[in-house]
Amino acid sequence: MKIIGVVTSGGDAPGMNAAIRGVVRIAYSKNFEVIGFERGWEGLLINSFKRLNPRSVGGILHLGGTILHTSRCPEFKKDEAIKKAAETLALNNVDGLIVIGGNGSLQGALELSKETGTLIVGVPASIDNDVFGTDETIGFDTAVNTAVTEIDKIRDTAVSLERIFIVEVMGRKRGFLALAVGLTVGAEMILIPEVNYESEKIFQTIREAKERGKKSAIIVAAEGVGDNRQLANEIEKATEAEVRLSVLGYTQRGGNPSARSRFLASLFADKAVELISEGQKSRAVVFRDGKITNIGLEESCKTEKPIDLSLLELARVLTT
Ligand code: ADP
Ligand code: F6P
Repeated sequence: MKIIGVVTSGGDAPGMNAAIRGVVRIAYSKNFEVIGFERGWEGLLINSFKRLNPRSVGGILHLGGTILHTSRCPEFKKDEAIKKAAETLALNNVDGLIVIGGNGSLQGALELSKETGTLIVGVPASIDNDVFGTDETIGFDTAVNTAVTEIDKIRDTAVSLERIFIVEVMGRKRGFLALAVGLTVGAEMILIPEVNYESEKIFQTIREAKERGKKSAIIVAAEGVGDNRQLANEIEKATEAEVRLSVLGYTQRGGNPSARSRFLASLFADKAVELISEGQKSRAVVFRDGKITNIGLEESCKTEKPIDLSLLELARVLTT
């Protein structure tokens, strides 16, 4: 019997469990055995895994997090670690490894694919939605919905007390989450790491909104734009408005995956197992223009995903 390995790595994302379940059940239907490496790349360094079968992945479809656990594993950037992981795959006769994770995890998958004969397939899962080649990653839709639900509540208190709120959402390096969330909550401003902001411009936008009769405002800011606490203080001084900062934090990474995240996870799992059963190597499963397809892992890792900055202008007009 052929063996498929599966691992979840990097930041967890709602829908990772749905992807694990999909991989296991689809793999079994094609007569593969499945082993799940535990705690991300760490599991491949210390040969820590558990056997998975269709029954052991029952009851997890709707759960956030990952039953395999995950980790950040800085050591994996070293050549010796990659070699060790390749040895682990050989030791366990793993024919194909499915790596479920974000941009960093897929970089690790690419490096590993250069050192092993095992077929490596990446499955993009991250609330950051920062993987090139796919319109969406597993977990992104859930995180957007979580943030929107919370900000709608913040809007109530902002309007009642006529305050300005900066709501910090996740996204240390990229602003896909902030942009989607900001547009869908009708934020008066969206701040993302891809754009440099002059403080004076932010103050001006707030003043202009006030002149148009807006008595409160929501600024959605990605964590990666800088010190949002300091920004709140600066806006307060410059505009004489009452400003509060609300950091949504890790709630955005957890919770039950949305229907859309589960759907994507299930389709990605199906494609990933199909690629391995076809003998394809170093591929990343992607969702592009409404279709599930795949691209080279190298292309996905080495290309920065473009962000549609025209959405900032759309959001601005929508909130006038
Ligand atoms: P995510 O996968 O969610 O983007 P990280 O960026 O933290 O999360 O990456 C997850 C892990 O992938 C890292 O902790 C590291 O083990 C591995 N990784 C990231 N970049 C590389 C790289 N260039 N080479 C090898 N491994 C990497
Ligand atoms: O999972 C992605 C992400 O949420 C990024 O937006 C953020 O920069 C990072 O993870 C923070 O997570 P941690 O504290 O686990 O490193």
